[in-house]
Amino acid sequence: MRSLLSVPKLYDLAQFVMRGTKYRSRLTSQFIRASSGSRILDIGCGTGTILDSLPEVEYVGLDMSAAYVAAARKRYGTVENGAPRHRSQCTFHCLELTDKTVDPLGKFDIVLAMGVVHHLDDASAMNLFAYSRQALREGGRMITLDGVYTENQSRIVKSLLRADRGKFVREESAYRSLCSGSFTSVQTTIAHDLFRIPYTCLIMECFA
Ligand SMILES: C[S@@+](CC[C@H](N)C(=O)[O-])C[C@H]1O[C@@H](n2cnc3c(N)ncnc32)[C@H](O)[C@@H]1O
Repeated sequence: MRSLLSVPKLYDLAQFVMRGTKYRSRLTSQFIRASSGSRILDIGCGTGTILDSLPEVEYVGLDMSAAYVAAARKRYGTVENGAPRHRSQCTFHCLELTDKTVDPLGKFDIVLAMGVVHHLDDASAMNLFAYSRQALREGGRMITLDGVYTENQSRIVKSLLRADRGKFVREESAYRSLCSGSFTSVQTTIAHDLFRIPYTCLIMECFA
């Protein structure tokens, strides 16, 4: 199952089954709140499908999976004659955000890491928050979304969280402590109804 999800089309299908159609519009209107012209860095962009719900923005997607980046470029990148496939200006890179890769990307209004932090151990996650802070202009925001353990969660939700490909699903306090060294102001929301399946997500909005 895990290796099947590394195939972009199967990953997209699995996300559609889990999240349905309302997920992205709620995420973009309630949490991302991008304006036309916003500069957005999407870390762990996957196949880039968040673009379908964003206004006309300048979008930079990063992912370590070459297959996901290739699928994203095919769908949203610039075609050979220079014509855009999407209303936004989109570029995709197959790379990890590090102290060496962050500065050449420039400054952003919004940094996204959707479904990424629970794939990272504590040290890597803290680095991700530090580099994301570095990538933000003053007044910018980072938004993360991950599965979270809470009290009084049903057995089904707990089993689904345990079965996640990401091996570092945490409780809210643990996610908060990962970003507290880089962001002093963080707002969190726990959502039980963002996905079509029973699942609990933590959305963190970190203010630069
Ligand atoms: C669950 S997927 C989420 C994809 C997309 N953000 C979405 O919401 O559909 C997590 C993605 O993060 C990528 N990833 C994990 N660690 C990463 C890192 N350190 N830098 C960049 N991408 C990473 C994986 O390759 C994978 O595509």
